[in-house]
Amino acid sequence: MIGEMQVHGVIKIGAEAVLRKVSWLGLTLVEKKRLPKPYRHPELDREIRVSRTLKEARIMIRAKEVGVMCPAIFHVDLEGAAIYMQFIEGNDLRVLLSENNPQMEEIAWRLGSSIANLHEAGIYHGDFVPSNILVVGEQHVLIDFGLSGFSKDVEEQAVDIHLFERSVSASHPSIAGAVMESLRSGYESVVGSSRLRMLMKRVSEIRARARYVERGAY
Ligand SMILES: Nc1ncnc2c1ncn2[C@@H]1O[C@H](COP(=O)(O)OP(=O)(O)O)[C@@H](O)[C@H]1O
Ligand SMILES: [Mg+2]
Repeated sequence: MIGEMQVHGVIKIGAEAVLRKVSWLGLTLVEKKRLPKPYRHPELDREIRVSRTLKEARIMIRAKEVGVMCPAIFHVDLEGAAIYMQFIEGNDLRVLLSENNPQMEEIAWRLGSSIANLHEAGIYHGDFVPSNILVVGEQHVLIDFGLSGFSKDVEEQAVDIHLFERSVSASHPSIAGAVMESLRSGYESVVGSSRLRMLMKRVSEIRARARYVERGAY
């Protein structure tokens, strides 16, 4: 990287990556760096970290190209398995859900249209949960594309919706129904009613499968 980088602090030490707030050439950025795993063969470990870093950055760039809000990528350091992206100042959706925000339905509708646009572009998020959605005013920004992939498979798309629904139902059961209805309606505005129906049918199947597994009936 050309120019000095200052580290301001650790944001999160995750299972796969460490996130730090840094500044570089006067910009405030987030560094998402995948650290070596001691239990993996060093050569293989490096390969995994590099390929996951590259894939995450590629997907974020593609998402932005199709108009889905996510942090801008400033730099990818493949040797260091690190992505440098725009720092987004905002709360995540969990905080706003608990405030019982009157704009929640509007935010959910837009979120539905964003995830639909992402799916239309052949990308699934893979970890579409409220903690991976930052809200800035009335806008939302999707983050954490570490489990994302390129696919138009309805199963992957339905998993996104299922994960979101499961998470909101668990944390905020009283508003989950209204939030999901707005999200579906935003989704439908992009893909139309027959595609939405097909998707929701698959979501119900996934939900039933998940219940079956939870009951231990396997
Ligand atoms: N671009 C960003 N701007 C501001 N905060 C961010 C940004 N990216 C990640 N974060 C914060 O760091 C946390 C972890 O990042 P994330 O990409 O979700 O990694 P993990 O895979 O560990 O969940 C997020 O929940 C969020 O609070
Ligand atoms: Mg996350």
